[in-house]
Amino acid sequence: MNKHHYTYQEIHRLAQSIASRVNESGFNPDVIVAIGSGGFIPARILRTYLSKPILAVGVVYYDMNDKPMEYPRKVQWIEEAEKQLAGKRILLVDEVDDSRVTLEYCTRELLAYHPAALAVAVLHDKRKEKRGQFPPGVDQVFVGQTLDDVWIVYPWDAIDIDEHDRNARARPKEGL
Ligand code: G4P
Ligand code: MG
Repeated sequence: MNKHHYTYQEIHRLAQSIASRVNESGFNPDVIVAIGSGGFIPARILRTYLSKPILAVGVVYYDMNDKPMEYPRKVQWIEEAEKQLAGKRILLVDEVDDSRVTLEYCTRELLAYHPAALAVAVLHDKRKEKRGQFPPGVDQVFVGQTLDDVWIVYPWDAIDIDEHDRNARARPKEGL
């Protein structure tokens, strides 16, 4: 699959643009929930602009052999989630909306705690047929960039960050 590399600088700018839209929308989250591990760094950058606390969840959809399982599973969840999330305005953050299966799973789980509002923020959304969907109760979805169905290479996956950045500079303009 076509690989598209993104630098930390580009990710930071994308997160800043998402934060601006969150602020302009008046959504006004009380808490950021980050889906690990891809959502951790984007959530932290959003926090710089939104100044809200981050809670983290860990969900796996791929097994040890990198095969998709029947449904996503929690590997880590929020302690006393009911207390921490009931009546709160939640911004759920992940790096990419791919199949949407994990995002559907997490939004459904969070809605069970009766938040006052729930929005989703992702750096990238891929144009493709989605297997999951956002349940009613997801008020807004903030997307940094919509891309074709390419393979996105994030800087935090880089072994050699300089080579990664060179690849990002050589990225075709299309699909930016
Ligand atoms: P979705 O609901 O957000 O669409 O997620 P989905 O379950 O389809 O994604 C399965 C895993 O594949 C997720 O990682 C997701 O981050 C990763 N993924 C999908 N497309 C890309 C891509 O283009 N580039 C990269 N780098 N990853 C992609 P995960 O199992 O949650 O692992 P983690 O890396 O977040 O820890
Ligand atoms: Mg992920």
